[in-house]
Amino acid sequence: TDALKIGIAGLGTVGASLVRIIQSRSNELAATCGRPILITGVSARDKTKDRGLHLAGVEWFDRPEDLAEKGDIEVFVELIGGANGPANSSVRAALERGLHVVTANKALLAYHGVELATIAEKKGTLLNFEAAVAGGIPVIKALRESLTGNTISRIYGIMNGTCNYILTKMEKEGLSFADCLKEAQRLGYAEADPAFDIEGNDTAHKLSILTTLAFGNQIAADDIYLEGITNISIEDIHAAAELGYRIKLLGVAQRTDTGIEQRVHPTMVPVDSVIAQVDGVTNAVAIESDILGELLMVGPGAGGNATASSVLGDIADIAKSQPGAQRVPVLGHPAKALESYRKAR
Ligand code: NAP
Ligand code: HSE
Repeated sequence: TDALKIGIAGLGTVGASLVRIIQSRSNELAATCGRPILITGVSARDKTKDRGLHLAGVEWFDRPEDLAEKGDIEVFVELIGGANGPANSSVRAALERGLHVVTANKALLAYHGVELATIAEKKGTLLNFEAAVAGGIPVIKALRESLTGNTISRIYGIMNGTCNYILTKMEKEGLSFADCLKEAQRLGYAEADPAFDIEGNDTAHKLSILTTLAFGNQIAADDIYLEGITNISIEDIHAAAELGYRIKLLGVAQRTDTGIEQRVHPTMVPVDSVIAQVDGVTNAVAIESDILGELLMVGPGAGGNATASSVLGDIADIAKSQPGAQRVPVLGHPAKALESYRKAR
């Protein structure tokens, strides 16, 4: 079967992790997806940077737009970041060309998501973005697929790994806000401009995406009440603890009599609640709906591998959806499963 050829724009924390994972698991991926996944093109700013990646034979593009327009690819993977600039223009170009697109870019989707999804729909291609909200937690799939038919009343949670990491480290290790932020940046959790994390914008971008999927309203990231964690001191955290609370940066969207309310702000949560126990870079998203009840998803919210895991899942979905992909019709390890399937027949 022909390989699924992909182009990756952005080789930073997430892009580099993705390249490593795809290259180190090529056989397993080919078996599970029914087609090998092959990286045929990449783009980043600095061609000379040593990224520790094996990119021999992979075509290099200085401009992500050129990869999108001319690369020998079926899928364009955008891991650059930013609502505008090259991320926006290259994703647009890829969709207009009729390519599938996978992105982890919540800022782009919060401002241009509906427009981009409309182009994808017109062209009959897929725009997948599992990694854009809560890193490795499959919350987009939950909303788009598993909860179909439910009426959702509320979504809330911890959606920014950097902020939760800072608040946890300040409380548990007594480190300063600035030192915790530096460490989050070193670990690859923070945005290129960390103001987006600590001022709450990143949580608002993610919340606006979830709100649109859950409630069907237009994306309106700028209409969200917004307060970040920059004013939270160690004294605040200790005072909350004395009262039996922890401080978490929450994003909340809920149905009210007058419409959908959306807000992002530091919140005191009872210390014995599940959400209060969510520490470090871990995220948690709770979804309340009428048929299922309350679903709580907890998992790694940022970092190269956690995010690349979701990006890879999106790519695999595309590989599996292609005509010609040889999918094994039973569960389990493909080779073994095929054997027992043949025997059973
Ligand atoms: P990053 O480490 O800053 O990497 C960004 C990459 O984009 C770099 O390789 C950079 O090239 C490249 N780039 C920047 N401007 C470019 C341009 N004009 N032309 C070509 N390439 C350009 O960012 P990241 O942390 O991997 O994040 C990437 C995306 O994933 C963002 O949308 C982010 O919000 C999202 N995301 C990140 C995480 C996370 O934990 N890090 C989690 C979920 C979602 P150089 O390397 O040459 O500078
Ligand atoms: N900067 C983001 C965070 C990356 O810390 O949660 C994951 O979207």
